[in-house]
Amino acid sequence: MIGTGYVGLVSGVCFADLGNEVICVDKDVDKISKLKRGIIPIYEPGLSELVKKNYKAKRLSFTTSISDAVQKSNIIFLCVGTPTKKNTNAADLSQIFNAAKEVSRNIKSSKIIINKSTVPVTTGDQIEKIISKKAKKKYFSVVSNPEFLREGEAIRDFTFPDRVIIGTSNKKSNRILKSLYSPLISKGAKYINTSRRGAELIKYASNAFLATKISFINEIANLCEKTDVNVEDVSIGMGLDKRIGGRFLRAGPAYGGSCFPKDTRAIVDTGSKFKTDLSIIKSVIRSNENRSKLLLLKVSKILKNKIKNKKICFLGVTFKANTDDMRESSSLTMIPSLSKKGALIKYYDPTGYKNEFSKNKNVFNCTTIEEACFDADLIIIHTEWNDFKSLNYKKLSKKKNFIIYDMRNILPYDKIKKDKIKYFGIGK
Ligand code: UDX
Repeated sequence: MIGTGYVGLVSGVCFADLGNEVICVDKDVDKISKLKRGIIPIYEPGLSELVKKNYKAKRLSFTTSISDAVQKSNIIFLCVGTPTKKNTNAADLSQIFNAAKEVSRNIKSSKIIINKSTVPVTTGDQIEKIISKKAKKKYFSVVSNPEFLREGEAIRDFTFPDRVIIGTSNKKSNRILKSLYSPLISKGAKYINTSRRGAELIKYASNAFLATKISFINEIANLCEKTDVNVEDVSIGMGLDKRIGGRFLRAGPAYGGSCFPKDTRAIVDTGSKFKTDLSIIKSVIRSNENRSKLLLLKVSKILKNKIKNKKICFLGVTFKANTDDMRESSSLTMIPSLSKKGALIKYYDPTGYKNEFSKNKNVFNCTTIEEACFDADLIIIHTEWNDFKSLNYKKLSKKKNFIIYDMRNILPYDKIKKDKIKYFGIGK
């Protein structure tokens, strides 16, 4: 496994747990030395235990040497980052091309090179070209095998995927990969063999579609607020139609994370490279960018346009629950904007202090929920951690007329109403 980020580390550990011998490679010396000592670089429930178990069983090892790892392996997964290239919407493929170059120098026997990183359609062709400069064609095949795991649910998503997508026309590689994934297939995962380009596009199209679903319900939620309808009823009513499906219809703040924002931009960029106008995805990106502004306007309205010196508490700041990841979190737009307007902000996140707010005036991290909520005029539930679902907010705030803005609709609406708490949710 080349690259020990989310995808590389989780997939590597899970493959080891299925009984394979796995070598995880990363250039980052400090990361590898920590992993060897059982220190995990990311927050992911269950991952630490699984790393320790498989490391002890000697099925899992860590190294900084690509050459050593490649020579010892039959199957090589490329799991490096494909961030957005500076000042563009395109995916920066330099890490993947560099990894391909390094792999190519070490191919002395038959290898399957599998790209698991999210890459624009036709990248596999370019990887093949790079590798064939140094290695004989008969010794390798380049396959696309996108990964669909979610942060916070990564181990479960890897172990029980809806589908395994293998993009290759090479029959031998397909047979070997089917056998590698057979423990997951026997538990119900569908195995799909398609073209390499097809597999690459399936990944982007899936993420763009899920982002579309979220933006769609977010806009419907806006209409619900104007028409006194509860968006949760709409989600349930729509979702029961099997053609639509109920998942990813939770209205909330702008979607964030390391994938949806980046991948929607990248597929639009790929579209324009191939002279295809992906107008739906373009408007999803716009809708999502507007969402944080819209929610900020609502905060302003809730506080009757008096934000200066108002005590605002943020519960949760990460882009979703069960992760410490702040990438593209809507709190990164909301908190600085409210701080600029003179609000006094305290935040609490179960994953602790966030450096991202260190330069914002009057923004303080709290180590307990009690400290964060105490004396607040407005409590914003920004992330849907379980920790926030059953609290006695009246007791916590101490302020008589405090308000709750539940951006994830996680509080029991009827009880909150009964307790006469001034409450605002999303789409209700
Ligand atoms: C996503 C994809 O789900 C996964 O398949 C892919 O491999 C990587 O990108 P992830 O970014 O970990 O996974 O999180 P996800 O659970 O999909 O949520 C992404 C964003 O959408 C979050 O901000 C989340 O809060 C938001 N979301 C999700 C909603 O607002 N409503 C929903 O119904 C679902």
